[in-house]
Amino acid sequence: MVAAPAPGVPTIALDNGVEIPQLGFGVFQIPPGDTVKATTTALEIGYRHIDTAQMYGNEREVGIAVREAGIDRNEIFVTSKLNNNRLERDDILRSFDRSLADTGLDHLDLFLVHWPLPAVSDFVARWKVMEEIYAGGRVRAIGVSNFQPHHLRRLFAETEVRPAVNQVEVHPYLTQDELRAFDADHEIVTEAWAPIAKGKVADDAVIREVAGQVGKTPAQVTLRWHIQRGDVVFPKSVTRSRVEENFDLFDFELDESAMAAMSSLNRDQRTGPDPDQFNYIPG
Ligand SMILES: NC(=O)c1ccc[n+]([C@@H]2O[C@H](COP(=O)([O-])OP(=O)(O)OC[C@H]3O[C@@H](n4cnc5c(N)ncnc54)[C@H](OP(=O)(O)O)[C@@H]3O)[C@@H](O)[C@H]2O)c1
Repeated sequence: MVAAPAPGVPTIALDNGVEIPQLGFGVFQIPPGDTVKATTTALEIGYRHIDTAQMYGNEREVGIAVREAGIDRNEIFVTSKLNNNRLERDDILRSFDRSLADTGLDHLDLFLVHWPLPAVSDFVARWKVMEEIYAGGRVRAIGVSNFQPHHLRRLFAETEVRPAVNQVEVHPYLTQDELRAFDADHEIVTEAWAPIAKGKVADDAVIREVAGQVGKTPAQVTLRWHIQRGDVVFPKSVTRSRVEENFDLFDFELDESAMAAMSSLNRDQRTGPDPDQFNYIPG
């Protein structure tokens, strides 16, 4: 049985008017064999936004869960991302076709360039192919992931369509204030990956104290902190009780001092690679 459509999850309008649910479900590192079950669980709980990628190897299984959920396709927002090993125009176009074929969907809601790969690829040329894909009408919005302001400035100068989102690592240990302000100044929505720092927030004394004050868990107050800052989040979990916990964010608010206490934890600490140094191309 499928739950009623997600009450309480706010949406954010992208620069082209497409609405994205501010809370979604991420499927990075969920093995294909577990992805149908995990995604189905998230949809049952009320999530209506799934974040996958060609590189995750589980688009097919996300598609099965979305198609078999008994929910109108237009109520579910599906994102995928261009794999780092798709560098040439024909290969990029083919890989988008493959994402649609694998998911069994006739359109994606959002398609992202996964990494800029500055030392090994021409991300401006790849973005121009993304523009072609967008013009083809089978994706509702296009964006980037792990782009720094200097990468974005090149896109603004050399291409036509502005990315609708920039999906980057953000959590209380990496608040990304400058990058988020840059995105906002250019009408780019910031999506926060690793929003609970891969689960590390559960052990943080300050976050535990904030959680205690509002009667919520560390993961919940951290996700709420993101929501109140205006970013989009999609925590990952294969544990049903956590998937439920991570969805239960809309019956409380953090006051200014709680928000400030969590932001003060920033130490510019990444859990993942630095986009300026990361040039990984899968075989
Ligand atoms: N664009 C990119 O380059 C990029 C990179 C990384 C991630 N992402 C996207 O962002 C999504 C989320 O990031 P992420 O998966 O890296 O990290 P995350 O969501 O911050 O953390 C996931 C980890 O936290 C645990 N967890 C989940 N809920 C919890 C809770 N309530 N309490 C305690 N622990 C909890 C999970 O364990 P269990 O699963 O065992 O429950 C898992 O180990 C990904 O799935 C993917 O969609 C994008």
